[in-house]
Amino acid sequence: MHKSAITIIALLFSSLTLTAQDDMDKFVSALMEKMTVEEKIGQLNLMPGTSFTTGEPKDNPLLQMAAEGKLGAVLNMSGEKNLKILQDAATRQSRLGIPVMAGMDVIHGYETVFPIPLAMSCSWDMEAIEQSTRIAAKEATADGICWTFSPMVDIALDARWGRIAEGSGEDPFLGSCIAQAMVRGYQGNFGKQNLMACVKHYALYGAAEAGRDYNTVDMSRIRMFNQFMPPYKAAAEAGAGSFMTSFNIVEYVPATTNRWLLDDVLRKGWGWNGFVVTDYGSIDEVAAHGLGNLTKASVMALKAGTDMDMCSGGFIKTLSQSLSDGNISMEDIDTACRRVLEAKYKLGLFKDPYRFLDAKRRATDIYTPEHRRFARQMATKTFVLLKNEGNILPLKPQGRIALIGPMADNGANMVGTWAPMAKRSRVATLKETMEQRLKGKAQVDYAQGCNFTSDPVLQADGGAWIAAPWKNADTLMVEAISVAEKADVIVCAMGEESEMSGESHCRASLEMFDAQQHLIEQLLKLGKPIVLLNFAGRPTVMTWEQSHIPAIMNVWFPGSEASDAICDVLFGEAVPSGKLTVSMPQATGQEPLYYNQLPTGRPMGENAQRFHLYKSNYLDVRNDPLYPFGYGLSYTTFAYSDITLEGRTATVRVSNTGNYDADEIVQLYIHDVEASISRPVKELKGFRRIHLAKGESTEVSFTITDDMLRFYNQQLDYVLEPGDFEIMIGPDSNLKNLKKTILSITDDTNQ
Ligand code: NOJ
Repeated sequence: MHKSAITIIALLFSSLTLTAQDDMDKFVSALMEKMTVEEKIGQLNLMPGTSFTTGEPKDNPLLQMAAEGKLGAVLNMSGEKNLKILQDAATRQSRLGIPVMAGMDVIHGYETVFPIPLAMSCSWDMEAIEQSTRIAAKEATADGICWTFSPMVDIALDARWGRIAEGSGEDPFLGSCIAQAMVRGYQGNFGKQNLMACVKHYALYGAAEAGRDYNTVDMSRIRMFNQFMPPYKAAAEAGAGSFMTSFNIVEYVPATTNRWLLDDVLRKGWGWNGFVVTDYGSIDEVAAHGLGNLTKASVMALKAGTDMDMCSGGFIKTLSQSLSDGNISMEDIDTACRRVLEAKYKLGLFKDPYRFLDAKRRATDIYTPEHRRFARQMATKTFVLLKNEGNILPLKPQGRIALIGPMADNGANMVGTWAPMAKRSRVATLKETMEQRLKGKAQVDYAQGCNFTSDPVLQADGGAWIAAPWKNADTLMVEAISVAEKADVIVCAMGEESEMSGESHCRASLEMFDAQQHLIEQLLKLGKPIVLLNFAGRPTVMTWEQSHIPAIMNVWFPGSEASDAICDVLFGEAVPSGKLTVSMPQATGQEPLYYNQLPTGRPMGENAQRFHLYKSNYLDVRNDPLYPFGYGLSYTTFAYSDITLEGRTATVRVSNTGNYDADEIVQLYIHDVEASISRPVKELKGFRRIHLAKGESTEVSFTITDDMLRFYNQQLDYVLEPGDFEIMIGPDSNLKNLKKTILSITDDTNQ
């Protein structure tokens, strides 16, 4: 691309006007003229935060670094008092007074905790997701933070990978919409209540082989560009201020030292102009990847386009010598330094280094009733009703309800994997909330019933930060049966501990744990209606549960307002509307499992009843997921008309045919019938979340744009190839539920 074109695109994405850009350039240039090489390298150094509450602040190494101009930013350190001490050192004691940036993993809320990101994606509600990041930004900035390591936009196809919990699922189109919504919500216009976003983990981190964290990734560029890159690109186009490199290799070179990835694709290809930070210790890990020691890795990283070193100490320790040795140029350092200073400029830190250090805001802006109300409502939108035989749900608030399971009286565990600022002890448990809300109406009898698993070591490892105490299994079972015997209905609150997903927490089998299944088997013998609430950070294999339990709702990890949100839906004050953004398998061995797969030369097709010789399928399990992408029931029912196609506009009439006012998520899929490369059997290209009162119906239209039909071909050109396209609209991705028509694109209609 021509250089001036790139500059124009870069300006568009940066949300800076030409004059503002000019002012920033002048300011940063003037500042850099005064900086020594060491001070410039100092800006590229990101270190872990600490607490200054004990000991003499002046002796603290972090403060010394700040005072010497050797610290660009800190991570995971919060609190106005704490950060002010650090900012004082940077701005009042260092030679040039350059402020530090305070970054943190603000992933699904701050003290008000929203559902885990995977759950939020199941709301398909872009405004709500944007609002959740706006609130998270407001709370975090009230506590001194100005930069978040979010959104994580990695596409994940393998549910064994624990970090599937942190992303938006398997679909690149939906993932792109969510990535943009999150960037918008965090950053706004870089006001006092906004955070700078950091898009991670660039790139392909979610494609770790066998779903094992930090494992190798290898894929074709066609797949990369069509399936994995779109959310990163979308986030770049939304003007995200920073990107984080991933731990993995991309085409055999670590992302952190991968010039093609950082310079050719991200910067030159997409015209993005923010700064790139590594993931934690990534420069150090280059040696383990087998590409050279810290000195060499630092050179490669800087030259590739990495600007800031997170916690390797590689840049600060080695770059100066590498400059003297002629292995990097002054321009390499200047380029990185400029980008970091620009980020600080955009955040307004040069005008006011104390912009995010307002002592008064903590009391008024964090964990407010308004934020909590929103989090509760948000959580209700993320629950996915998987089965509701005989309309057991919603439950009537009457009679005797047995509440059983290791999640039933476990507030801390409902918060989810990545909420460092959550005050877990103040999260009400399901038992507490249910008892309180049903007082005078129904009797709630509780029993834990079982441990999470029958393996105490696994339970301890999965409860890394929030250990669930190990109890005698026989005693737990006896208690549960005696409670269940007296009940009219049994609610089982079960699933994973919250630290069984997330970073470094992968699983090789996705089935419900044996101890929980065994308990359900015993409860079923009582012949009472059972509702299973499944808490999980990833798809759970529930094939047995699906065929034995009448009602199943996936509640993921709903955050700080979990118990109220669950009661809202359980007792019908809110109607479930979430739809899966990940395919839920029938068996772990199906992973990686995703709906937008390629057909193969021997396609099995969907909904097969039995094994077929010499077709692409398994002997022992059908290819279909247990619950497909896009699936989720409601308390009401919806009917879809056939599609009418006028020009490029496809329309269906959707009717609420049940007894509840409710939301429906209408989905548009497209299949390119014939192309120059093999194309997925279907791809999501549009969706609408609509509200219909009972008996109401409405038309939903999608205009098929060129962009919905384009793809990256073998030359990696983004092309629209004329021909026939199947247009499918419906409530989920299963072919049998989709209405279909054909759109023919000739050269003439090609816009
Ligand atoms: C490692 C994780 O991979 C990344 O997501 C996170 O932002 C950093 N640590 C900082 O905590």
